Amino acid sequence: MKILGIGCALPPQVVINNQLEQILDTSDEWIQSRTGIRERHILSGGTVAGLALEAGQEALQDSGLTGADLDMILVTTAQGDDLFPSVSCTIQQDLGANCPCMDLHVACAGFIYALDTADAYIKSGKASHILIVSAEGLSRLSDWSDRSTCVLFGDAAGAVVVGPGEGLLSCQLSALSRRDILFGTYTGLPCPFSPPEEKVAAGIRMEGQEVFKFAVGISAADLLKAADKADIPIAQMDWVLLHQANRRIIDAVSRRLGVTPGRVPSNIHRLGNTSSASIPLLMYDLYHAGLLEPGHVLALSGFGSGMVSGACILRWDKPKPSQVKDPVHSLHFT
Ligand code: UT7
Repeated sequence: MKILGIGCALPPQVVINNQLEQILDTSDEWIQSRTGIRERHILSGGTVAGLALEAGQEALQDSGLTGADLDMILVTTAQGDDLFPSVSCTIQQDLGANCPCMDLHVACAGFIYALDTADAYIKSGKASHILIVSAEGLSRLSDWSDRSTCVLFGDAAGAVVVGPGEGLLSCQLSALSRRDILFGTYTGLPCPFSPPEEKVAAGIRMEGQEVFKFAVGISAADLLKAADKADIPIAQMDWVLLHQANRRIIDAVSRRLGVTPGRVPSNIHRLGNTSSASIPLLMYDLYHAGLLEPGHVLALSGFGSGMVSGACILRWDKPKPSQVKDPVHSLHFT
């Protein structure tokens, strides 16, 4: 499997930390120093499927394929606009596709799980071209009275089209049942036969420090295993793309692995934590900044509620874009 095209979509509304100071007992200083986040995009008026469609269309166009060429659409999302149909089915027609569609529900590690799933379909000969879209609207799941979680998340979609090739060198997936440290709930309509205590308030609940420790440990361990399977030491990776959950997690994983300085890009300052969309968005920014070159080796690592995690090693094969898109897509480097 290799990446043939890449796309992204951001809702137009940007919310800066100072705006959160107006509605919460928080400060720009706290958010920036504890997380690295300065602003995030928030879905207002739009839909998760709308973001997914926009990112998917850009990835398709970039790949030179059309929807009719797709053998499968895989969407990763914490929650689409509806419980059903899936986001992938919702966008299929507008993409001009006529292929199987499924949504994967793997929280922030969704993109890595989707790459591995697509690789398995392509290797088995069941599919040649697959669109993967990671589309998230976590602002709609957040409890906006809980300052310890709502300041973290942003909405976005990132997409890639993959096809046969030698790009995915290794993959390492894991899952550990730990609902106690991170979960998101949503309420349905009340059922007259349910006891009242079954009605749970919606929102994302997190034991931040526990998740932080888990994230640093599992991300570093996954990356080492994936690098070992690919037989390429971490020090030789051209780029290490980590899930954008917290700037301090990114720095801690980089230190733990001894990654070559300047090889760990980050865009959390302007996007926040966009769950499964964060890795394809980072890849998009790196590509459009003209920094990804054919032959570059990338290590990717995602982790999230479950707790799920995954890392993979990818050889980049696409030529540089004809135009560089800075400074809008500015990156920081660790
Ligand atoms: O993508 C899914 C995976 N998620 C993650 O990886 C997130 C992992 N965890 C984290 O990133 C961090 O733990 C947080 C950013 C969530 C929290 O940072 P922290 O340094 O671990 O802070 P803390 O939870 O230990 O809280 C320290 C203090 C507390 O006050 P007291 O008890 O010391 O008085 C919190 O109430 O900071 C307070 N606090 C805030 N203060 C201002 C928590 N949130 C805020 C806030 N503004 N937004």
